[in-house]
Amino acid sequence: MRTELIKAEQGNAEAAAERAAELLCRGEIVAIPTETVYGLAASIYSEKALREVYSVKGRPQDNPVIVHISSMDMLDGIVEEVPDEALLLAEKFWPGPLTMIFRKTRKVSDTITCGMDTVAVRYPSHPVAHAVIEAAGVPLAAPSANLSGKPSPTSAEHCVHDLWGKVPLIIDGGQCEVGVESTVVSMTGDHPVILRPGIISLEQIRELIPSAEVSEAVTRKVGEDEKVMSPGLKYKHYSPECSVTLVKGSLEDFSSYVKENYEDGDFAMCFFGDEESIGIPCIPYGTAEDAVSQAHSVFAVLRQLDEIGAKRVFVRAPEETGQAMAVSNRLLRAAGFDEVTL
Ligand code: TXA
Ligand code: MG
Repeated sequence: MRTELIKAEQGNAEAAAERAAELLCRGEIVAIPTETVYGLAASIYSEKALREVYSVKGRPQDNPVIVHISSMDMLDGIVEEVPDEALLLAEKFWPGPLTMIFRKTRKVSDTITCGMDTVAVRYPSHPVAHAVIEAAGVPLAAPSANLSGKPSPTSAEHCVHDLWGKVPLIIDGGQCEVGVESTVVSMTGDHPVILRPGIISLEQIRELIPSAEVSEAVTRKVGEDEKVMSPGLKYKHYSPECSVTLVKGSLEDFSSYVKENYEDGDFAMCFFGDEESIGIPCIPYGTAEDAVSQAHSVFAVLRQLDEIGAKRVFVRAPEETGQAMAVSNRLLRAAGFDEVTL
């Protein structure tokens, strides 16, 4: 298949969105930028396109995808009801990097929800994502635009790497600002439950709804046959080709550990300013105190390590709470739960 790559710069974002909408309305799939990561979009009303999203990504058939909207009106028809607590969160965080799970209506295909009676909905703030949904005039189902199991794409180059020749259009909207996927919160129980941490933290959600919790499945390894609230937690995720080990400890302990274990082809993934003490080849993925900077670069650095042929990577572990929980969760999964505490 011929893949078109369109830069959505100022001035032609509308034209790019029109082109995407034309394809989407014909039942084709398109990679689009969002503020979190790039998404692989399909009209929620095209079964052919929805099925193609799963096949192109190699996505397991029991891992549902998120529906993206560009106005609150679009919720009508796809969700049964929007609880008051969800309205509170929507008022504060939409448009933005928050996904909420609601009871679905029959209009939402089982291909989107994998037969679950709930649907995940997100209202992205990225101007290009917004323009594409508006131009298509229908909600768009979109998982992250990576091949299943690989780090999520935070630039058009990442999408080109994974999807060239497999989709008709990739829209280049530059680097994603957030860098990790949205916070996923279930709103179907008696209090909100975070199923996937994101840059909108538990603490920020608790400011509005003190009873909010994080699902215990977020921080542990979930068996493939286990029934969990978010099927995505079961699968191997974000894994580069190189083997990843998450290493917890002070900079001094980390440095001695990597020096002792160093073999040819090893790299350290560290914080800015750590490089000199570490003494083995390293790539920083943000600043130690700044989870936002870590989130912004974490996937790009995992992909970069593959590009340069790294064999093993020792990662300086981020904090585990607040906004850093999102980064720590992605790295723990990239490491396949291989962690060392010094
Ligand atoms: O930031 C994001 O959320 C990006 C951009 C493109 O919007 N999308 C994204 O989609 O990360 P994806 O498919 O890679 O992740 C969707 C997650 C999966 O963990 C999936 O299991 C969960 O949301 N999910 C979707 N529908 C669900 C449902 N009805 N109940 C529970 N979990 C659901
Ligand atoms: Mg994904």
